[in-house]
Amino acid sequence: MKLHGTMEVKDNTLYIGGVSTMDLAKRYKTPLYVFDEELIINNCREYKKYFKVEENNNKIAYAGKAFLPKYMCNIINKEGLYLDVVSLGELYTAYKSNFPMEKILFHGNNKTIEEIKMGVDFGVGVFVVDNFYELDILESFCRDKNKIQNIYFRVTPGIDAHTHKYIKTGQIDSKFGFALTNGDFYNAVNKLKDYPHLKLVGIHAHIGSQIFEVEPYEEEVDVMFNLVKTLKDEYDIEIKEVDFGGGIGVYYTESDKPKTIKEFCEKIIDKCEKKCKELKINMPSLILEPGRSLVANAGSTLYSIGSIKDIKDVRTYVSVDGGMTDNIRPSLYQAGYECAVVNKMNNPKTSHKVTIAGKCCESGDILISNTSILDIESGDVLITTSTGAYGYSMASNYNKIPKNPVVFVNKGEDKLVCKRQSLDDLLYLEL
Ligand code: LLP
Repeated sequence: MKLHGTMEVKDNTLYIGGVSTMDLAKRYKTPLYVFDEELIINNCREYKKYFKVEENNNKIAYAGKAFLPKYMCNIINKEGLYLDVVSLGELYTAYKSNFPMEKILFHGNNKTIEEIKMGVDFGVGVFVVDNFYELDILESFCRDKNKIQNIYFRVTPGIDAHTHKYIKTGQIDSKFGFALTNGDFYNAVNKLKDYPHLKLVGIHAHIGSQIFEVEPYEEEVDVMFNLVKTLKDEYDIEIKEVDFGGGIGVYYTESDKPKTIKEFCEKIIDKCEKKCKELKINMPSLILEPGRSLVANAGSTLYSIGSIKDIKDVRTYVSVDGGMTDNIRPSLYQAGYECAVVNKMNNPKTSHKVTIAGKCCESGDILISNTSILDIESGDVLITTSTGAYGYSMASNYNKIPKNPVVFVNKGEDKLVCKRQSLDDLLYLEL
C-alpha cells in the first residue's frame, strides 16, 4: 500500500498526521473517515503556486462535490481558493461557513428556480449558465433585483478525454452545456442582447474526470481560446476568464500513474501562453476546478474486520463493518483501492489473496477483490486509502446504515468534523 501525505509507520502501526490510526479507531469507533489536513493544504498551495494564481490572477475553484463539510469550506477559504457548487445544499453549506459568496461559481445543468433565486439572493460571483432555460430565469430574477450578474457559458467542447485518442468528435450528445457544432453556443451569445442583466465574462468546459493525460487539456485550450478570439473578432465580446473545469487523475492503485499537480499546471499554462501568442489575444484569467486531486489521497477509511469466510479453492471473503454505503465507487465504477491492516504494517504479505467485502445486502458490495494481506484476523483494523473524494459525498443510508464520522488529523492532533449519524438521526425525517 502506498503511503500518502503524512502517513508513516511507527512500531508496525500506521500514523496519519502524527496520530495513530489504532487510537483513532478506538476513540471514534469504525467505520471512520480520516483526513490528512496537511496534505489538503499542501495540495491547495501546489495548485496556487504552479497555476500562477498570484502572478497571473488565475483561480483555483475547488469542486465541492468531491467532499464538502463546512470544515472543508473553511480550509478552502483560508487557502484563498474559489469554490464550485452545484446545488442548494452545497451553496447553503458554503453560506453557513461564511465562505465569500463572490468567490463561488454556481454550476449545474438543471438549476431549479429555487437554486437560481438563492444564488442571486446570496450574491454568488458567477453563474455557469448551462442552457437557454436557465438563461431566461436568471435574467428575470436579476431584472427583479435590478442587478447585473456575471456569467460564464458552459461549452460542450466535443473532446472525449476517455477515448484512447482524445478525439474531437464534434459530439453534441451531452446533457451539459451549449454545443459548438449545432450552433447553440452562438445562439446563446446572440440572445445576450435581450438579457441586459447578464454579463458574459467567461467560458467554461469540463472534459471528464480521473484523466491522466495532459493532451486532452491541450485540445481544450485550443478549442476555448479559438472561441475567445471569435467572440472578440466577431461579437466584440472580451472574454476575461477561461475555466477548464476539473478532472485531473490521482493514484488509487499501482496501475494509476498520475502526473503531479506541478506537471499538469505547468503544461496547461505553457499551452495557454503559446496559444495566446499564436492567436494574438490577451491572456485571460485561467481557472481550474480540481475536486478529486485536492482531497482523494488525503482521505482514508478505517474499518473493523468481522467475519472471515474461507471457501476452499475458491475465495476468502474478509468482511468489514462498512462498504458500499460509505464507498460506492467500487460497485458503481469498478474502482480499485489499496488496503492494509493498520497494526501489522510491516508484516510480510503472502501470495494468499483475499476479497474485502462490505456488509450490505448486495453481492456486488465488494470493496477490493483479490488483494494480498497476511495475518488478517477478525477484530483487526483495516484501512483503505484514497477514499477522500466522492466517498463521504456519495455515501448513502442503504440498509439503514448510519453515515461514518469524519475526523481531520494534523500535527499530532485529531478533530471531529462530522459526527456519526445516530440511529435516531436515521429516523429524523420520518413522521
Ligand atoms: N468541474 C465540473 C464542472 C465537474 O463536473 C467536476 C466533476 C469537477 C469540476 C471536478 O472533477 P474532479 O477534479 O473531481 O475529477 N463521482 C465520480 C466523479 C464525478 C465527477 C463529476 N464532475 C467519481 O467518484 O469518480
